[in-house]
Amino acid sequence: MNLVLLGPPGCGKGTQATRLKERFGIVHLSTGDMLRAEVAAGTEVGRVVDGLMRAGALVPDELIIGIAASHFDDAEVRRGFLLDGFPRTVPQAEALDSILGDRGITLDHVISIDVEDEAMVERITGRFTCGKCGEGYHDTFKLPKVAGVCDVCGSTEFVRRKDDTAETVRRRLTAYRNQTQPLFDYYDAKGLLRHVDGMKDIDAVSRGMFEALATQVGA
Ligand code: AP5
Repeated sequence: MNLVLLGPPGCGKGTQATRLKERFGIVHLSTGDMLRAEVAAGTEVGRVVDGLMRAGALVPDELIIGIAASHFDDAEVRRGFLLDGFPRTVPQAEALDSILGDRGITLDHVISIDVEDEAMVERITGRFTCGKCGEGYHDTFKLPKVAGVCDVCGSTEFVRRKDDTAETVRRRLTAYRNQTQPLFDYYDAKGLLRHVDGMKDIDAVSRGMFEALATQVGA
C-alpha cells in the first residue's frame, strides 16, 4: 500500500504515521525528518534549509523533490510507503507522479487529517520527543507513563523542535493554506482523497484512518 498523509502542521501526521507503519508494515518517509537530519549533520543542504524551517517557510521545491526522489529506488520502499510532509505543493505532487510513474509505482490513497487552527497551535507548542528513539509526547495529551522516562526506550533525554513556537506555527499554517491546500483539488480530481476527523483523541483518529483505508482496500 502506498499512501500520502496530508494535513496542517501539528495535525498528527507523524503520530498516525507510526501506527500506520506498524499496522501495514510500510516505510514511513517524512521529509521534515529528512531535513532535520541534514541540519543536525551540518551538511550544505542543512545550512540552506535551517533558516527557512525556523522561519516556518517551505524549502524550495527542486531541493525537496531531489531529496524525496532518492528514496524510491529502495527495495523496502517499493514494497509500500507512507509519505508524511511530501508533497506540499502542486509542483511537488506533479514531480511525485512522474517519480512513481517512471518506476511503475501506483499511489493508492491520500488521507487528509482535518483539525481546527487552535488545536494545531496547542498540539505543536506542547510537543516533545525522546532524544534517543524519537517517540513523540505532549505536555497535555500524551505524557510518558513514568514522568521524565521514555515509555519505549527508557531514555531520560527529551527534545523540542526549534520551529515549534506559536509564532512560527502561524507562519507554517499560512504556508499550508497558500501552498499545500491546492493539493486537495489535485488529489480529489484523481479520486484518491479521503478526509479523517483529526479533532478526536489519538486512538479515535487511528480508528478513523483504518476505517477510511478499509473501505477502499479491505484492510
Ligand atoms: P514537518 O516536519 O513535515 O512538519 P509539519 O508538517 O509542520 O508537521 P509536524 O511534524 O509539525 O506535525 P505532525 O502533523 O506530524 O503532528 P504530530 O504527529 O507531531 O516539516 C517541518 C518543516 O520542514 C516545514 O515547515 C518546512 O520548512 C520543511 N519541509 C518539510 N517537508 C517539506 C516539503 N515537502 N516541501 C517544503 N518544505 C518542507 O503531532 C503534534 C503533537 O500533537 C504531538 O505532541 C502529538 O502527541 C499530539 N497529537 C497528535 N494527534 C493528536 C490528537 N488526535 N489529539 C491530541 N494530541 C495529538
